[in-house]
Amino acid sequence: MSVLKILNVIGCRPNFIKIAPLIAEMNKHPEIDPFLVHTGQHYDEAMSDVFFRDLEIPQPDVCLNVGSGSNPGQMARMMQGLEAVLADINPDLVLVVGDVNSTTASSLTAVSLGYPVAHVEAGLRSFDREMPEEINRVVTDALSDFLFATETSAVENLLREGKPQERIFFVGNVMIDTLAMNTEKIARSTILQELGLSPHSYAVATLHRASNVDDPNALAQIAEALGDLQQHIRLVFPIHPRTALRLHSLRSWQQLASLPNILAVKPLGYLDFIKLTKESMFVLTDSGGVQEESTCLGVPCLTLRKNTERPVTITQGTNQLVGTKHEEILEKGLQILNGTICRGRIPEKWDGQASMRIVSVLLQESEMIKRMYGGVRERGICLDMLSRG
Ligand code: UD1
Ligand code: UDP
Repeated sequence: MSVLKILNVIGCRPNFIKIAPLIAEMNKHPEIDPFLVHTGQHYDEAMSDVFFRDLEIPQPDVCLNVGSGSNPGQMARMMQGLEAVLADINPDLVLVVGDVNSTTASSLTAVSLGYPVAHVEAGLRSFDREMPEEINRVVTDALSDFLFATETSAVENLLREGKPQERIFFVGNVMIDTLAMNTEKIARSTILQELGLSPHSYAVATLHRASNVDDPNALAQIAEALGDLQQHIRLVFPIHPRTALRLHSLRSWQQLASLPNILAVKPLGYLDFIKLTKESMFVLTDSGGVQEESTCLGVPCLTLRKNTERPVTITQGTNQLVGTKHEEILEKGLQILNGTICRGRIPEKWDGQASMRIVSVLLQESEMIKRMYGGVRERGICLDMLSRG
């Protein structure tokens, strides 16, 4: 059997966490030759490099260094860069994870050049087209040949949209594989001592959704709620760079940030962040990943959104949707402090084995993958030669 060449594309903080166990699993199989491309969507040390170190992800074979920009501008730069990489590497399959611009740009480039695509975390739907992530999910799933789902709602969404059953695989959650693989390293994190915190004496807040932080009204409401909550519990707030930019121009923020019970810190590395979450009383977040991790850690989660594409974290986990209104956030936070806590249970197949299941499907389908769309690629090469004369 010849080797299956897989080009894995990542670009953002959550992508790094999702790809780590997949690359580790691929590396166990000599029949797979994995390549890693980093689009450069996230580039700060605290948003990128630290995850490669913490999670022992191999250095990318290629970095496109696209940097920040508007959604279409950023994706256009990614697509141009990826076209050249695909021509150079000529993989059998392109694997993408999550719902960020890097995910969509790479799947679109791949299919337009005749490369099959596997999407890890397929089928999640918030049904809210105002969020760029929802557009990314819908587009990427429409283009993908292999749809790997984390929860049964995602399978149902894909079937309802007419995706063939044989292309959908309910495999579990690679984010939780990473959590399981790093339990010991997380336990060794000294972040609580560094921040002068004792377990269960604080809550963690994370915020970065464009729909929250780019809307001055929503941002002000959330900031007010944090201001009230800190009167009852210490709040640790690792601030995402998008949020830092927006908070800078929010007048009430300077005053809030100076309060002793608000601990505003730079974005944390993975091991420190999970340790902080695990030992917290509860989390307030608009992050997709944090909703899932808190469910597995049994830590109550208040999601600062009016919808979630991850309903299993509510039906089985610790998650509650609280929206972005000041009073509602405060009320739910106080309920937790008064002892109304749901510990939930671990969703089906969130057992640390998702990467193994994904790689096993890809190996099983290896010969079929190698034959997919070969004609499109050959015609592309012929056209390219013609146009170059
Ligand atoms: C992106 C994803 C979002 C994901 C989040 C994870 C899209 C449309 N959005 O949002 O779905 O949940 O990543 O964190 O793909 N910046 C820096 N340094 C960095 C990266 C970003 O300073 O390393 C600043 C820049 O000012 C940039 C802004 O953050 O303009 C937003 O970055 P961007 O990657 O466009 O979107 P995120 O908000 O990070
Ligand atoms: N995270 C981290 N440091 C932080 C905040 C978050 O390591 O300061 C991790 C956390 O594990 C989370 C993951 O980054 O699940 C996902 O990133 P983010 O919330 O930015 O993206 P989303 O999951 O919403 O797409």
